[in-house]
Parts: sequence; structure tokens; C-alpha cells
Amino acid sequence: MKQIDLKDTYLKFFESKGHKIIPSAPIIPENDPTCLFNTAGMQPLVPYLKGEPHPEGTRLADVQKCFRTNDLDSIGDTTHHTFFEMLGNWSLGDYFKKESISWSFEFLTKYLEIPVEKLAVSVFKGNDIVPADNESANIWKSQGIKEGRIAFLSEEHNWWPNMELLGPCGPDTEIFYWRGKSVAPETFDPEDENWVEIWNNVFMQYNHEEDGTFTPLKNKNVDTGLGVERVTAILEGYSDNYKSSIWKDIIEKIEEISRLPYEDEKYSKSMRIIADHIRAIVMITGDDAGIKPSNTDQGYILRRLIRRMIRYAKKLNIDVNSNWEQELALMVIEKYSKYYKELERNKEVILQTLKDEKIKFNRTLEHGLKEFEKVVKNLEGNLVNKDIAFRLYDTFGFPIELTEELAKELNLKVDVEGFKQKFKEHQEKSRQGATGKFKGGLASTRRNGNKISYSYTSFKCSIKKSFGTSCPSKR
Ligand code: SER
Repeated sequence: MKQIDLKDTYLKFFESKGHKIIPSAPIIPENDPTCLFNTAGMQPLVPYLKGEPHPEGTRLADVQKCFRTNDLDSIGDTTHHTFFEMLGNWSLGDYFKKESISWSFEFLTKYLEIPVEKLAVSVFKGNDIVPADNESANIWKSQGIKEGRIAFLSEEHNWWPNMELLGPCGPDTEIFYWRGKSVAPETFDPEDENWVEIWNNVFMQYNHEEDGTFTPLKNKNVDTGLGVERVTAILEGYSDNYKSSIWKDIIEKIEEISRLPYEDEKYSKSMRIIADHIRAIVMITGDDAGIKPSNTDQGYILRRLIRRMIRYAKKLNIDVNSNWEQELALMVIEKYSKYYKELERNKEVILQTLKDEKIKFNRTLEHGLKEFEKVVKNLEGNLVNKDIAFRLYDTFGFPIELTEELAKELNLKVDVEGFKQKFKEHQEKSRQGATGKFKGGLASTRRNGNKISYSYTSFKCSIKKSFGTSCPSKR
């Protein structure tokens, strides 16, 4: 299969079409306190999509660092990632559907050499705001996409981000690739899982206002997004993203450290989790925002990633006290420094942060796991109650999600609501001045009393009522 540098090829292609290549914005949004992370390439460009002139002009392209927390619990399968890179090109009131579609087609068929027989597209079928997108369908036909391979779909599929979120939005056209072993059917069935979405071209013409109306934006914009991990795996012929060149060396390093084979299904899930999390950890700690593990917001996500990664390393019998995580982090830094210079600059901070949190968690992990085993043995019924969950959190530093995951593996449930209640009560007590002696794990930061905003909504979702909350595309 084709071996190319997807990111370089993409950027060069769009440069040749008059685009300025801009650097990735930080993974932590700079001017948007409602968002924990950037979840899409367009997110840092919202002011410009709304009409503010961009200093680099009206045609832009980049590789954006993105992070989506709603995929966190799916990590471990072959296609999901927390951190991922999104290739994007934008027209800020410059070109529109014709150029956008024909360039996407040219890039896929000429530069990536994907046969047209393996492509299908969806376009918007229309609603009260805009009519059916026959224009896009006709442009696709003029490029050589057969009528049967064009599906007109509802706003649920072809409106980005969706009809609920506020801000710039619009109908889109999505491009699908046939991953099946058989010849691609003549008629495109979007329900057939062999068709995977690879590129989303959004025609951003509206702003969804607070009052629920959709007003036309100053400009008719284009916002496209193509997931690097998925497309690389497709080009290299893998259905498991972790076998592609993006992950190969990291997985091999984990095999070397653990002395276990990825191909053995007993170990592959743990290896994928470690590979995904170490990359995300490096990207978050390497960001200039200076995020450190904590009990709030991005810091809490970071803590969860590090602790979850350590638990899976333990499952692979890796000596968690050795330098395994430093070796992996160095590998990621080296691999990605070409695009993200801050990783090299913040190298020492990344390594030290990881090490400190590891040492902190390793102190209690073993005991916490033993405690969990003991508790489970004596459990009546299948519910891990709030007191146990809170003890695991408070004494052993187990994020509640970790307890949930441990429980799930044994078909048990956790009283998460009860835990939350208990957590709140405890927080209230410390706010009222109770000194309380906290041991280990998460305890150190909890002494800050009312500074803690341990918010369930904020860490379940990357952002609140703004872009990307729903993480709409299946990337
Ligand atoms: N904003 C769209 C997406 O994330 C296109 O980039 O899918």
C-alpha cells in the first residue's frame, strides 16, 4: 500500500492552491474558558469564521492538535484515540463548494491515489433553513462520482457541528472510503460499516444564536477536517490503526519493555491504551499552558490518563517503578517535535511531570488494588458502594472512573451518584475548616478546600456549550 507522509503531502497540496500554512494552535484553547481542549481544527478559528480578518489571509491550512475526552472510555479498541491530529483547510469568504470539493477529490484520487471506485459521498438533504444541496451533488458528479454513490442525508448526519450547539455552523458533505474486502457496491449505503468517513467539508454560512435562530454569517466559509490516524491506516491497508506507521514504533517499544507480543489478544488492548495515553500525556504536558495533574479540569483529565496508563502497564507486568514511561515519552517527543516545537522546548517538564505523578500513584496503586480485591471478595450483590469508591479515591488515589473500570471488568457496578454526593459533603466539610488528614494519592491538592471545582460535566466533555462538545464526527 501507499507509504507517504500524509501531513506533508496535504500541506504542500493546499499551499499549491494558494493556502497559507498556519501552525497548530495549542491543544489547550487560549481564549476560551468554556473549552478544556481543542477538539477540531476550526475551533481556534471561530473569530475568523465569524468575520474577523485573519492576518494570514483568506485561505488557510494546518495540522491541528486535538483531544476528545468523550472517547476516553473507548480507548483500547483499534480505532479510537484521545489525542489525534486533524488536517484542515479553510476558506474565509474566499472559495466555496466548487473548489473545495474538486480539490478534495484531486487530493484523494491523484495524490493519495485512492481509486474513485472506493469513494462515496453524502450531501445535505435540506431542512427549513437551507434547501437540499444539489449544487454539491452536481459538483461531485462532474468529478466522476456516480449518482448511486451520492446519498442525501438529514441534518443529523450532514450539518456540522449539529443543530443544538451555538456558533458558526452549516451543511456539510462527507467523503467515505470503502474498507470492505469485496468490491465496493455501486450504491452507497451509509449504514454499511465498510464505508468509513474520511473527510468532512463544512460549508459554514450560519451562526446559531443564543435565541435559537440561524443568522447568515458575514462570509460563506469552508471548513474541512481529515483525521490523520484514520486516513494513514487506510492508506497503509490496516483496519487496526495501531498497526500503521503512526503507532508501529510505539507499540514495538511497549512490546520490548513488556517482553510480550502485541499480536496476542491478551495484551493488545493494554498496549493500545498505553500507546494512546502516552501520546496524549506528552501533548498535554508539552503544551505551553503548563497543565499539571490535579483534581480539576484539564489537570484531572491528565491525572486520569497517567493513572489509567500505569494500571495497564501493571497488567502487562511492566515494572512500573522502572523508567518505562520516560522511554516512551521520549519517543513521542522525538516523533512529533517536527510539527510541534513546544515538545522539544518543554521536554524536561514533560518528563518530570510524568515521573512525579507516577511516583505518587505507584505508592498507593498496589495497596489500592489489593483493597479492591478484598472488598470484592466480601461484596454482597454486585454494587461497589459509595463508601468503598470514596475510600479508593481518597486513600489510594483511584479516580472514580478507574474504580468503575475495575468494577466493570468483574461485571460489577459502582454507586457513582453516591460517590459524588459523598465527595461534595467532604468538600463542604473541608471548606468549613475541618482540617482532616488526607493520605497519599489525590490528597495533596484536596487541601486547597474550596479551590477545587471537581466538576463532572467538565471532565466528561471537553467543552461545555460551545464547539465540539458533542464531538460530532466519527473521527
Ligand atoms: N469541523 C469539521 C469536523 O470537525 C470539519 O473540520 O469534522
